[in-house]
Amino acid sequence: MQVLKSLEELRAWRQLQQGSLALVPTMGNLHEGHLKLTDLAQQHADQVVTSIFVNPLQFGANEDLDSYPRTLEADCQALAERGVDAVFAPQVKDVYPRGLEAQTFIDVPSTSEILCGASRPGHFRGVATVVAKLFNMVQPDLAVFGKKDYQQLQVIRLMAQDLSFPIEILGMPTERAEDGLALSSRNNYLSSSERQTAPRLYQVLQQTAVAISNNGTAIEQALAEARIALQDSGFRLDYLELRRQADLQPASQADSAKVLLVAAYLGRTRLIDNLTF
Ligand code: PAJ
Repeated sequence: MQVLKSLEELRAWRQLQQGSLALVPTMGNLHEGHLKLTDLAQQHADQVVTSIFVNPLQFGANEDLDSYPRTLEADCQALAERGVDAVFAPQVKDVYPRGLEAQTFIDVPSTSEILCGASRPGHFRGVATVVAKLFNMVQPDLAVFGKKDYQQLQVIRLMAQDLSFPIEILGMPTERAEDGLALSSRNNYLSSSERQTAPRLYQVLQQTAVAISNNGTAIEQALAEARIALQDSGFRLDYLELRRQADLQPASQADSAKVLLVAAYLGRTRLIDNLTF
């Protein structure tokens, strides 16, 4: 497996590649969820490159940019074992040569300002910008993202469409621990008692989906009960909402493709999850 640590190295490698190329963008500290994305990528392309870049542009001032776990060596080992062809692990100066302030941005209106975008201003601008740059740098034929970050996937699909990238976007179902907790690099921040509480997040989503779709509970009532259940379990809620899958606007019972989306804090750790039905 090639480890490409600069844009020059990436470009030299890219020129030699034949056949189709898939990109799996990550911020590293890889877990089985990330590795499942690379498995899917391998099924759809001749070559797979994983990028590892903790993108400063998508972190807010009071967020965990400095403490975000950086484990490049272990990540490369895991990717090599999985048969990935190359890792692109650029430096901040490769990606933002003029610095973060002078950067040209990509904004995806409306979808970026709701849900996670409302509580993390600028976050999706940072995501859309870095993913567009990675697309230009790597020039893949397809790219794979996780549905765990449901809104992020939506923003990236819209960005790719709006900017006419000739890149197919694939979404991968969420990989979970045995107790249902969605795998996430941020789970490492949880204390052992918080880790025991964390699976409650997905349980409440499941109960709420059943209440709405099978039991005919009114949406607002089901959401209110779910919010209380999470607060009683020790979560500090950011949001819990029922939206249409297509455009993330509020859903009614009549909508056939719905998604429950949640963001909540356990201690200082912000967890997100979602459930489509
Ligand atoms: P990161 O959080 O490292 O996630 C990289 C990719 O892995 C994303 O597409 C994410 O949705 C997916 N992923 C994470 N946990 C998953 C799980 N449990 N099951 C399935 N997929 C999972 O998301 C980012 O990085 C960044 O915002 C990025 C897109 C790389 C841009 O900087």
